[in-house]
Amino acid sequence: MSLPWVEKYRPRSFKDIVNQEEAKYKLASWICRRFRAPDAFCKAWAKVQAKEVEGAKAVLLAGPPGTGKTTLVHALAHEIDYEVVELNASDVRTSERIREVVGRGLREGSLFYSGKLILFDEVDGLNPKEDLGGLDSIVDLVETARVPIIMTANNPWDQRFRPLREVSLVINVRKLDEEDVVEVLRRICNAEKIRCEEDALRALAKSSNGDLRAAINDLQLFAEGKGALTVDDVKRIGERNPQLSMFEVLDRVFRARWFDEARAISFTPSFDWEQFFAWAVENVPRVYKEPSAAAMALDRLSKADIILRRIRTTGEWELMPYMTELMLAGIALVPDKPKLPRFFKYQFPQRITLLAKSRESRRRREAVVDYLARELHVSPSYVSSELMRVLSVVAKKNPKALEAIGRAVSISVKDVEGLL
Ligand SMILES: Nc1ncnc2c1ncn2[C@@H]1O[C@H](COP(=O)(O)OP(=O)(O)OP(=O)(O)O)[C@@H](O)[C@H]1O
Ligand SMILES: [Mg+2]
Repeated sequence: MSLPWVEKYRPRSFKDIVNQEEAKYKLASWICRRFRAPDAFCKAWAKVQAKEVEGAKAVLLAGPPGTGKTTLVHALAHEIDYEVVELNASDVRTSERIREVVGRGLREGSLFYSGKLILFDEVDGLNPKEDLGGLDSIVDLVETARVPIIMTANNPWDQRFRPLREVSLVINVRKLDEEDVVEVLRRICNAEKIRCEEDALRALAKSSNGDLRAAINDLQLFAEGKGALTVDDVKRIGERNPQLSMFEVLDRVFRARWFDEARAISFTPSFDWEQFFAWAVENVPRVYKEPSAAAMALDRLSKADIILRRIRTTGEWELMPYMTELMLAGIALVPDKPKLPRFFKYQFPQRITLLAKSRESRRRREAVVDYLARELHVSPSYVSSELMRVLSVVAKKNPKALEAIGRAVSISVKDVEGLL
């Protein structure tokens, strides 16, 4: 499998983002008036002169899914040579965590860029319970930070986002119309050297309802590796279930008989790799009772895990195909594959249940680790693997040390003790 086309063809510059001119002009005007940006870029794009643009402390991009919000921010950063410090919906976004990530991002100098901007992606996904204080601390940051802060949201009109709207310039990102979607699909067909019938693209565009991400995923599903795409190919689209449950996904993978059949699952829109990984690990030994088969499938998952981690830390998306193939085909295809019963009861991953349960204590442990790392100028992982042990020895001899740490991170001595 190749790279997901939504990544491969994600526009890197403003000019490649279709039909969001107004958003581009406003965003550029805001950046150019308030921050450092190259002259050529500002000449080309900063075309709006308005008080509301110049006065705004932050920007909130609002619009439907798959219309280019996240893309706009990354393209902007690329245009003005800024690094993006990002917190998105898959991160925990408590006030503590936000301050930590943003603080770290801003403290560390940028070797290769001329500045940094902060992106809070999908702020309407902030969970009032789990991301405790997250919204308030974003507002605080907007008031105090000296770097550009940009947020995105599908629907920021809820009452609880009012404080955020009040400190930001809200820029509307439009729903794309059929023509825009067709245009992007056509470009991809050309780049992939696929002869795509105009009507086929139109049908894809129609069913995507302005969500370009969905349209591109569909196109890849139907056209990848082919010389041509016809209307007939696309007719199958109605049969596709856009949102499979994790249960169905797992069932398809385990029942797949061929490589392609298993890897096709990766085209499901908004497929959640990390969730899938947890489910796969939990269920491989249940499905494959034969130890050698289970061992083989788990071994492939472990390799996929290594790649996944590497993608996450380095952003090397070109590794994605290896990961998806290992994770999907890697567990679907084992020698002497047993026949699954007609209905197999997959198990909800214990790891997710456990993580949810132990979240509070992990949070406390993180607070202690971060505090020590900061004070001692060492890495958090060094504190975790080495110093916590030393600390437990020290604590036995000198309980006062614990009190000091407890005070610094606002945790009771008893709790600190419990973490050692
Ligand atoms: N206006 C556009 N021009 C060109 N490509 C686009 C445009 N909008 C979206 N895309 C394509 O669709 C993909 C998804 O876009 P993006 O991630 O920016 O959507 P989004 O608006 O942030 O959606 P969500 O609300 O779901 O986060 C991109 O990788 C890009 O390939
Ligand atoms: Mg987005």
